[in-house]
This record gives sequence, structure tokens and C-alpha cells, in this order.
Amino acid sequence: MTTPPKTEEKPAPNGSGSDPFLSVRDLHIRFSTEDGIVKAVDGLSFDLERGQTLGIVGESGSGKSVTNLAVLGLHNPKSTEITGEIHLEGQELTGAKEKTLEKLRGNKMAMIFQDALTALSPYYTVGRQIAEPFIKHTGASKREGRQRAIEMLTKVGIPQPTLRVDDYPHQFSGGMRQRAMIAMALVCNPELLIADEPTTALDVTVQAQILDLLKDLQQEFGSAIILITHDLGVVANTADDLLVMYAGRAVERGSVKEILTEPQHPYTWGLLSSMPRLSSDVSEALHPIPGSPPSLLNPPSGCAFNPRCGFTGEVGGTRCGDERPALAPGRAAACHLGSEQKQTLFTEQIKPRLG
Ligand SMILES: Nc1ncnc2c1ncn2[C@@H]1O[C@H](COP(=O)(O)OP(=O)(O)OP(=O)(O)O)[C@@H](O)[C@H]1O
Ligand code: SF4
Ligand SMILES: [Mg+2]
Repeated sequence: MTTPPKTEEKPAPNGSGSDPFLSVRDLHIRFSTEDGIVKAVDGLSFDLERGQTLGIVGESGSGKSVTNLAVLGLHNPKSTEITGEIHLEGQELTGAKEKTLEKLRGNKMAMIFQDALTALSPYYTVGRQIAEPFIKHTGASKREGRQRAIEMLTKVGIPQPTLRVDDYPHQFSGGMRQRAMIAMALVCNPELLIADEPTTALDVTVQAQILDLLKDLQQEFGSAIILITHDLGVVANTADDLLVMYAGRAVERGSVKEILTEPQHPYTWGLLSSMPRLSSDVSEALHPIPGSPPSLLNPPSGCAFNPRCGFTGEVGGTRCGDERPALAPGRAAACHLGSEQKQTLFTEQIKPRLG
């Protein structure tokens, strides 16, 4: 495969002068498929510090899971080309040996996978699967491992954990499987936790319990958390910073407060306008984003959002279709609209919809 071009996106400064805990720089991920090359991630950069939670939002197929699987080194190297840099505490993970990554996975960094069924093996008991990383990374005995598995099942709210620890995954309900997988990810108190839609299959009370558990982990161990979700409500209550992704790129970055109160990118405006609001009148119309996300086999030229954007006329000419907007460092949105234009459009056209 050919090396993808470097993009214009510059690394975001962390402001402290020292290396961030996790630093992703100009990440490109491409898959070779029968239909061609899928450009799943296209020049992505972000930082995450210890004790902080970064929310990642974006429609289906925007590259959220693929990015985070790359951090854990879980892509098949035969069909995936990854370039750019991923540093965890200064250690380069892109191209690191499998042995190095294996040592870090489950221990220093762990992931709550989007799909609980694929993450749990049907052939081993739930307790054994939770205990395994604990035994492997701490040198604990099997008995201690089992005890730890029971403790973790209790923490994630599985009733009768001393009995259920010996069940196989098919004996658990979907929501229980998801909780077992969360227990597996948290068993070694990871310093970096990637939670990919961790609460989608759970009802609201269990969802709150799991989010509390993540907060406890963070408070006790200063863990850094990446929270991938479609639910902006979850992000609002849990994350510090937010990255909005579209077609494999970051289109807006800022603190959760900044993005939820003063979003700057037309795509983020679309996400917020299409979100149901608890406080609003049920008859109030939502404003879904027209069209659908682009094919990553052949993404649109210029700004990838241009075929769906209602503001290309404000930019004028053919700039939106010709020139890819860069994401500046710090609080920023990748859009050709000027900052005053963005502010006026948001205040006059978008804000009234958000109530
Ligand atoms: N192994 C693969 N081979 C080819 N294409 C892939 C592969 N894995 C993912 N993709 C493609 O990469 C793009 C990004 O996928 P990704 O799973 O990161 O989306 P996502 O943002 O997590 O979406 P969702 O919200 O639905 O989980 C999609 O177009 C997807 O089809
Ligand atoms: S650059 Fe143009 S197409 Fe892209 S979001 Fe901004 S106005 Fe819309
Ligand atoms: Mg995903």
C-alpha cells in the first residue's frame, strides 16, 4: 500500500511543555478491501492527560472505534496500514512489537468493547475471563483471581456474583454480558481506559451505576478515559473535553462546556439540533442532518461535510468543495466560515432551535 499524504492538521499543543499521557499525532488508518482502500482515519491528532475524560462523538462510521483499536494495537497488520504516532507516556505504540502491546493491554490500558459478544469467549466461564488478565499481570493465584472476579461482578451490579461467576457468557443476558465485559476491562485498574459505547445496552439506572464506577476508577487511580458515545447527555455529565469526528477527521475540539454551549462547526450544530431534548415540548421538531455520511472509499474533496452542509453559500465560491479546512490547535473547528460568521449564524439560526 502507498503511504498516505501528510495532512495540514498540526498537532494540538498541550500547553504544559511536558509530554501528555496519551498523544495521537497525524494518525492515518487505511484498510485494503476488495472494493479499494477505505480511508477510515485521515490525519487525526489529540491529547489526553491523566485524570481526564475525553468524549468522542460522531455519526456511525466516523472512525471512533477504529482509532481506539489502533491505540490498543488490535488491527490486523496484514490488511491495515497505520501511520502517524501514538505515544503512551512517551512510549511509541504505532508499530510496537506484539509482545510490548500485550504487556500493556488489560493492565496499563484496557477497552470496553462496543460489542460484548465478540469480546467474550463462549468457551470459558465469565469468572475465568475476568480473572485472566488479573492473574496474568499481578501474578495472583487462581483462587485470588476468582475472588477478584466476584468482587468485580459485584461492583458492576451482577446479582448473586458468587454463583454467576461460574456461568458461561450465553447464560448471561445481553446487559449482563456488557457488565461482565466492563468488569474485565476494569479488573487491573487500567491507567488508560477506552470505553466504546459502554452503556448502550443498559437501562438508565445501571447506566448511571457504570458511569459512577468509571468516575471512581478515575478518582482512585488518576486514570485517563476515552468515552465514545452517541449520547451527548452522557458526554455532558462525564467528559472534560470533546472531539467531534466526521469522516475520519476531527472537525471540532474543545471543552465539553464550550462545545455544548458555543459549538462552532456546522456538523456539530447538526448533531445538537438532531438530539431530542428532555426539557422541550414533545411537539418541537428535531432537525436531522440531511443526507448520510460519505463513503470512505472515495470521500468528497475539500471539506468532507460539504455535500450535507447548509452553509457553503456563506463561505462563497467553490472553496468548501475544493479546499480542506484545517483544525487549528486548541479550541477550534475545521471550517472555512470566519469566527464572526460562525458566531452570528449560531446565535441567529441554530441557538433558537436548541432551546
Ligand atoms: N476491518 C475493516 N475493514 C474495512 N473497513 C473497515 C474495517 N473496520 C472498520 N472499517 C470502516 O472504517 C470506518 C470507520 O469505522 P468505525 O468502526 O471506526 O466507525 P464508528 O465511528 O466506531 O461507528 P459506530 O458509531 O457505528 O460504531 C467505517 O466506514 C467502517 O466501515
Ligand atoms: S467548510 Fe464549508 S462545507 Fe465544511 S462545514 Fe464549513 S461551511 Fe460547511
Ligand atoms: Mg464504533
